[in-house]
Amino acid sequence: MLVTKFARVGFTAAALCTAVLAQAAGLPNVTILATGGTIAGTGATSTTTVGYTAAKIGVEKLIAAVPELQKVANVKGEQVFQIASENMNNDYWLKLAKRVNELLAQKDVDGIVITHGTDTIEETAYFLNLVVKSKKPVVIVGAMRPATALSADGPINLYNAVATAGSPDAVGRGVLVALNDEIQGARDVTKTNTMTANTFRSPELGSLGYIVSGKPVFYRASTKKNTADTEFDVSKLDKLPAVDIAFGAANANNIAIDAFVAAGDVGIVYAGTGDGSLSSVVRPRLTELRKQGLYIVRSSRISNGPVVRNGENDDDATDFVVSDTLSPQKARILLMLALTKTKDTKEIQRMFYTY
Ligand code: DGL
Repeated sequence: MLVTKFARVGFTAAALCTAVLAQAAGLPNVTILATGGTIAGTGATSTTTVGYTAAKIGVEKLIAAVPELQKVANVKGEQVFQIASENMNNDYWLKLAKRVNELLAQKDVDGIVITHGTDTIEETAYFLNLVVKSKKPVVIVGAMRPATALSADGPINLYNAVATAGSPDAVGRGVLVALNDEIQGARDVTKTNTMTANTFRSPELGSLGYIVSGKPVFYRASTKKNTADTEFDVSKLDKLPAVDIAFGAANANNIAIDAFVAAGDVGIVYAGTGDGSLSSVVRPRLTELRKQGLYIVRSSRISNGPVVRNGENDDDATDFVVSDTLSPQKARILLMLALTKTKDTKEIQRMFYTY
């Protein structure tokens, strides 16, 4: 009797093991790179959805909290760093990009998920959209409620992101941002609400698709070059050119601009009013700085619509670049990378129309 029992247990274990191996063999291999944020955050109570601490929970615990991940992918986790994403910077970006490219060059990695704070997800997504050298899916995910909250959105967002990163349908679409059952493209996505779960939108230009019961369904694609099709390569870079953003408003002045110059910036993105308008105080200063060799991108504080060349400023005469529909924060990223390739403003303008 006892022998039979052991035999049955032995058989069950072997069958289970085979099933797991068989299942694993048929699933995509997805690596989760954790960087912090609210998805890894903890609050004092289950109803604390503001005023919690981000970047507390490690990647292994994030994965363990969603056993369903094992049904859609063979998942491995790495804690690349652990920060609230308002602290994201160029050095973190270079470290993350190099690790992403190393992993995607491996045959046994089919896709990557990056868990990230939502404050700067859109910037990290756009940076990676320009420097990842693979067509394999890279899906960035976050959460608007900490892991300890009632109806925390992190677990389902993580499940959806892994399912998307493992899907052949997500190949070649550029870096994606997936929260709240929606798929956004890296170039046009932005955070639109300080608090709500549906905060990520691609206003006017539109999201790329939805995730339906763990399956990505795409309805649109970006027309802009990305990832393996870009001319940028950060593999040998240890730092990026110093570029900052000055914000335009009533009572505009040159205090911030002059501080950036004094700090040694090589480029300034000006987030002008309206269609990138420059006040009569700011325009001559930026013009003079361009003549001194600083690179100027004329952007706008307005969320939608293109900043049009030679519209609110004679950009041909002042030799400024216009940001097209890129936000000031994304224009900063593209100007930094452009300056690693060229000092020719006509070439830089081409890049702003291309990426
Ligand atoms: N501190 C913010 C961040 O890490 C929290 C926002 C979030 O992750 O949702 O971006």
